[in-house]
Amino acid sequence: MDTIKSLLIRKTESTFGVAVEKVDMGDLPTDGELLVRIQYSCINYKDALAITNQGNIIRGEYPFVPGIDLAGIVMESSDMRFQAGDSVVATGGGLGEIHWGGLSSIQRISSEWIVTVPERLSAFDAMVIGTAGVTAMLSVVALEEAGIRPENGEILVTGATGGVGSLSIRLLANAGYTVVACTGKTDVHDYLTGLGAARVLDRSEFSGTRLRPMDKVKWAGAVDTVGSQTLARIISQIGRHGAIAVCGLAGGSDLHLSVFPFILRGIKLLGIDSNTCPVPVRQRVWARLAEELSSDFLRSITTEIGLDEVVGLADSFVKGKIKGRYVVRV
Ligand SMILES: NC(=O)c1ccc[n+]([C@@H]2O[C@H](COP(=O)([O-])OP(=O)(O)OC[C@H]3O[C@@H](n4cnc5c(N)ncnc54)[C@H](OP(=O)(O)O)[C@@H]3O)[C@@H](O)[C@H]2O)c1
Repeated sequence: MDTIKSLLIRKTESTFGVAVEKVDMGDLPTDGELLVRIQYSCINYKDALAITNQGNIIRGEYPFVPGIDLAGIVMESSDMRFQAGDSVVATGGGLGEIHWGGLSSIQRISSEWIVTVPERLSAFDAMVIGTAGVTAMLSVVALEEAGIRPENGEILVTGATGGVGSLSIRLLANAGYTVVACTGKTDVHDYLTGLGAARVLDRSEFSGTRLRPMDKVKWAGAVDTVGSQTLARIISQIGRHGAIAVCGLAGGSDLHLSVFPFILRGIKLLGIDSNTCPVPVRQRVWARLAEELSSDFLRSITTEIGLDEVVGLADSFVKGKIKGRYVVRV
């Protein structure tokens, strides 16, 4: 009989607690076509919010296992498309929000959003990529499809040292774009230029509420993980027919705008939702990620931690103090 180790959140009207606990096989969810022995999970911003009881991330019943990503080996499958022994990766699709998630040694999950891990990637590599990498690649594809070409000018990436930011910089640089990284950290110049950024800007350049509807043009495009005033300022600085992949809210979810950049410069806001991204798109995204990101590179931006270290780190994620990716050995 397998002993399952899971990060379990227990919450009542007046109490909240998170701890690594032993879980019986019979306690796992009964709905879901796949039983997966998880090799690695990871921490995303959303997981950190869930673990610190912020942001109303969890919509399932308590006790609850967080973790929006997992990579592992199928133990049992009632879906013809998957067999025992298959190496699979799950990102989003309600995992760790509605359904018990990846911060567990075994989990029963829906096969709906599952992708086979591309041959060139290990389970570890897949979890360095995780939701962050899928989101970064969806953002790059969205900019490409909006007609933004390397020769159009610089592309700004905000929240640059975070998971989505780091991987966006690398993927954009790989595709030939000149990338400008925007960060709130002071000692990360070498890290960001190592990813492929041509130059680095301080976050303070995008703060403040005084904002001209149409500022001096600075960017051909952007990947924004921050939202709020930062996104409003970027919108005012995007050049004619430029575009912004809007994927995050690390700085806030509000957005106060003028219509002028849209009707006088023809700029586009491209919404990115990796969570419900359709499976055929996921498969294409994973195939391209496997082509473009080497295992050596992925390991170089990653800190590997144990399940019992997750809770201690969650607050640093929410406060934006981390750099790169954190993969969890479950
Ligand atoms: N749409 C989607 O499908 C999707 C998927 C994944 C993530 N997201 C969202 O994208 C954002 C980033 O996710 P992640 O997983 O990359 O998070 P992460 O690894 O925790 O990185 C977030 C980064 O944002 C920056 N940051 C933090 N607080 C900030 C603030 N108050 N103002 C400005 N910048 C701040 C920091 O980078 P610097 O110190 O370098 O500035 C931080 O490292 C989150 O809001 C997340 O919910 C969306």
